[in-house]
Amino acid sequence: MLDVVVASSYIWSGARPTRMLLMVLDAGQCKIRSWQFSDLSSLVRQADNPAIWRNVRDGFPSPYTDSDAERWLLHAASANPETNFAIAVNGEAVGGIGITLQADIHRVSAEMGYWLGEEYWGRGIMTCAVSAFAGYAFSTFALSRVFACVFEWNRASARVLEKSGFVLEARLRRSAVKAGRIIDEFQYALVR
Ligand SMILES: CC(C)(COP(=O)(O)OP(=O)(O)OC[C@H]1O[C@@H](n2cnc3c(N)ncnc32)[C@H](O)[C@@H]1OP(=O)(O)O)[C@@H](O)C(=O)NCCC(=O)NCCS
Repeated sequence: MLDVVVASSYIWSGARPTRMLLMVLDAGQCKIRSWQFSDLSSLVRQADNPAIWRNVRDGFPSPYTDSDAERWLLHAASANPETNFAIAVNGEAVGGIGITLQADIHRVSAEMGYWLGEEYWGRGIMTCAVSAFAGYAFSTFALSRVFACVFEWNRASARVLEKSGFVLEARLRRSAVKAGRIIDEFQYALVR
């Protein structure tokens, strides 16, 4: 049983949409919850790290500035449905996790993405987060498949997905360019 509170309402505080209720999902080692504007400084502190940027899409800024964080928090808070969430440890937002719902005939699929502040790596936090969030995604959206793409050098992320029950389905040869290199990606998926 998922321990989750979901909200879809907003109040407006100045120019910013603020959720009246927060989604909170207990993932054991961490909580997955709605982003809040008070997360701005911890978001910048954790996200401004080339070691994270190296493993995610180029849409994730580096350096990661206050205005990048503000843009992200505004985007996350205004999205309906809400699909991007903070990973919180001891109340502090130290990472992010989300899905991108696919369109047209792929609307039963969603791509999952995630990152965690480096000082929290290696404690099993993301394995808890990915397992819990996949369950949340399947129970909240009409999905039959959640997938994730991992850069060829990212063994830690591949391991997280394997520990969370995802299956390696494909090696997408020379499918992406990151940090000036053409690379392969590994596609993992979990099906309902
Ligand atoms: C990848 C990432 C999410 C992992 O988070 P985490 O909380 O440290 O992961 P966990 O502790 O749950 O599990 C990590 C696993 O990878 C293993 N691992 C770590 N580095 C490894 C490496 N270089 N080679 C092989 N395995 C490795 C760990 O030993 C652990 O497996 P184990 O429990 O079997 O020992 C985190 O490092 C991160 O945010 N990286 C930058 C962004 C990123 O890669 N996002 C994902 C994009 S697909």
